[in-house]
Amino acid sequence: MAKAAVRERWASRPLFIFAAIGSAIGLGNVWRFPYLTYEYGGAAFLIPWIIGLIIMGVPWMVLEFGMGRFFQKSAPGIFEGIGKKWEWLGWWPVFVAFLIVSYYTVVMAWALRYVISSFNVAWGVGAAGAEGAVPYYLENVLNISDGAGVLGGLQWSIVGFLALTWIVVFLIVFKGAGVIGKVAVWTVTIPWALLVILLIRGLTLPGAVTGLEYYLSPDFSQLTNVEVWFAAFSQIAFTLSLGMAGMFAYGSFVAKKADITNSAFITSFANCATSFFAGFAVFSTVGFMMQALGVPVGEVASGSSIGMSFMTYPVAISMMPAANALIGVLFFLCLFFLGIDSAFFLAYGGVIAPVMDKFGMSRVKATTWVCVIAFLVGLIYTTQGGLYWVDMVDRTAAFYGLLITGALACIVVGWGFGAAKLREHVNETSDIKVGAWFDWLIKIVVPAGLVFVVIVGGFMEDVPEAYGGYAVGTLSGSHIIWIILGVTLVLSFVFQAIKTKGVSGE
Ligand code: PHE
Repeated sequence: MAKAAVRERWASRPLFIFAAIGSAIGLGNVWRFPYLTYEYGGAAFLIPWIIGLIIMGVPWMVLEFGMGRFFQKSAPGIFEGIGKKWEWLGWWPVFVAFLIVSYYTVVMAWALRYVISSFNVAWGVGAAGAEGAVPYYLENVLNISDGAGVLGGLQWSIVGFLALTWIVVFLIVFKGAGVIGKVAVWTVTIPWALLVILLIRGLTLPGAVTGLEYYLSPDFSQLTNVEVWFAAFSQIAFTLSLGMAGMFAYGSFVAKKADITNSAFITSFANCATSFFAGFAVFSTVGFMMQALGVPVGEVASGSSIGMSFMTYPVAISMMPAANALIGVLFFLCLFFLGIDSAFFLAYGGVIAPVMDKFGMSRVKATTWVCVIAFLVGLIYTTQGGLYWVDMVDRTAAFYGLLITGALACIVVGWGFGAAKLREHVNETSDIKVGAWFDWLIKIVVPAGLVFVVIVGGFMEDVPEAYGGYAVGTLSGSHIIWIILGVTLVLSFVFQAIKTKGVSGE
């Protein structure tokens, strides 16, 4: 590691918390959580979800913030600090974060394109027959090919919006944490305000109450279903944006004397409250749509979060009695703002800060390189086969990468560095003191929970069957996942092996 100059700092504690909340809140809060809740037992799902939040999410976030602050370094420097042979474990999540931001920005580019086409409700039911947004999305926006193996040409409008997204990310991020914190105040409150508007719109539509009943009517028998626990735990890991290197860096910008534990509590709870709240906005609208189409909610609410955002919800908006264009603009802007601070986080905390720390590169230079390379990698998702690659890379990075690196990090910190040492460090300055139970959560419960999810929700599905049914030449979707994951692991060791000038072992 190159010798760092004076570590940069958040301008204030609230700005740090805003930046952390902004990283956690993303598209997942609006689509993934409400949908999982509906799917896995309504209000009963809140039980495993809250248990996951408390026994896994919060301690894990305390770990990432706390280790960042202790070492005053981003992830690679932290693991190098624990033991030279562990530096790769700090790089692995860096590559995972890089992969995620490479497609996350493409989803944001789609959202921008929809903002523009909202002005004439181009994705509306009237535009393309009863299915409305489905052909609009698949044909007009993606011009989708027959399979992952057929990339076809670049879709230039998406390339343009992707470039725009990266320019925005660059302009905020090259100034560092100080500016990210200040911008986060806006990128957190704007989507909150937009969600409130969407909620009011949703609740005043006919059918809203039925939608909410579907969202929350409890089915406690689901609690004996292992899949429900798996869904709840993986959602907690995903929604808090842990396991992606970024929170280590964000913690490293926290002043030595500042609080850790309470900040982690506030961040986690604000994020989860947002999810719960967003569910009302989503399901009131889904209820309206159900009633208008005369179909059961399952048919309306099925599908991935991407499908819901770009195919289901637009149809609902276009069926509303008035102000469709306006609601469309607000909804897609909301998606963009939900995503943008997660993109800052992934790019800066996840990738740029580690590169600066290791190579002693200036912030402008590191930011330029990372933004340009991530944009170029992102072009693959702007091709006609792009959606398939978004899906495969998402599974690789936001599922396997995040959970595996997270479990390993907890084990190495818990047993190698010492959970008790971390606890003492954190307790020195924190409002809330954590007890010895914290050590066991870090050493055993969190990694065991994550490994459980990887095995039950991952390997048991993707080893016997090709992920998503994809095929690229002779490779299946699952093969591609293992290959990308393997490449990121190898790169982590390569980066560990690179000797940088001025290595001081500090
Ligand atoms: N936590 C974000 C969400 O819930 C997703 C995300 C993952 C953001 C990884 C940044 C990094 O949508």
